[in-house]
Amino acid sequence: MAVPEAGEIAIRKCQDIDELNTCVALQKEVWNFADVDLVPLRMFVVSQKIGGQVIGAFDGSDLVGFAFSIPGSRAGHAYLHSHMLAVRSAFRNHGLGRRLKLAQRDDAMEHGFDLMEWTFDPLEIKNAHLNLARLGAIARRYSINHYGYSSSPLQGGLPTDRLVAEWWLKSKRVVNLLDKHQPPQFQVEKKIEVPAQIYSWKASDLDRPRAAEVQKKNQGQFRAAFSQGLAALGYERDGQENGAFLLGRWDENWSYASSNED
Ligand SMILES: CC(C)(COP(=O)(O)OP(=O)(O)OC[C@H]1O[C@@H](n2cnc3c(N)ncnc32)[C@H](O)[C@@H]1OP(=O)(O)O)[C@@H](O)C(=O)NCCC(=O)NCCS
Repeated sequence: MAVPEAGEIAIRKCQDIDELNTCVALQKEVWNFADVDLVPLRMFVVSQKIGGQVIGAFDGSDLVGFAFSIPGSRAGHAYLHSHMLAVRSAFRNHGLGRRLKLAQRDDAMEHGFDLMEWTFDPLEIKNAHLNLARLGAIARRYSINHYGYSSSPLQGGLPTDRLVAEWWLKSKRVVNLLDKHQPPQFQVEKKIEVPAQIYSWKASDLDRPRAAEVQKKNQGQFRAAFSQGLAALGYERDGQENGAFLLGRWDENWSYASSNED
């Protein structure tokens, strides 16, 4: 199937129950969760009614991606927690994930939010690149086995360790990157590496212990670095698609700190 040009895919809010239902179906397709782990239709409905977002990517009338967020509160400040970002596999790597996030940002700022957060698997090289390098999020909190064990094959049976992405929508870092196309400059004090084979290791019963080893090793490195005030501020890939988190000190003060909570 030919993927339509990026400009032919419309990004807009989902409008009715039928469209929200297709988000549930796409969620099932993308994560292949057991039904008990699926976010149900009712939560998508509630989210839209309480200040959250359900934004879809539409190829004609077909939903091919969505971003789903719910409002939260931290230290007395309202923010948005983006719980899911999904793009149908045939439509990936054409910028749709990024466009959905940018639409979330526009909508969030329009509604007075300064911060969006979401969690992501530090073993997912592709997501790390999108979040840190392309969107300008930072990460300085690490949550061990955040959701408990997951039925999604994407998790490969490993603990659901997650980094928390903080996207400070009006920060110099984000505005310069997204509005002025100036990538952030910072001194790299530490690198944390993820080998390209991580995806095949997670998917194979035989090699899964190697993925678990990387997860455990990196968990220790992230937690030590974050406790020293470092943050994941960048991401690089080499020609073989090995990834490395680039850690340094963020030179801005955006925070709703309740210190190191997950
Ligand atoms: C994460 C997801 C939404 C991204 O959607 P997408 O439409 O492919 O995203 P984009 O095309 O905007 O960006 C993907 C980026 O990753 C890059 N990428 C692709 N494969 C990669 C790899 N193996 N390693 C590193 N980067 C990779 C692409 O080149 C692109 O970066 P670029 O814009 O600099 O070229 C999609 O992959 C998905 O649905 N994944 C499964 C669900 C999931 O993990 N969701 C996120 C957590 S909730």
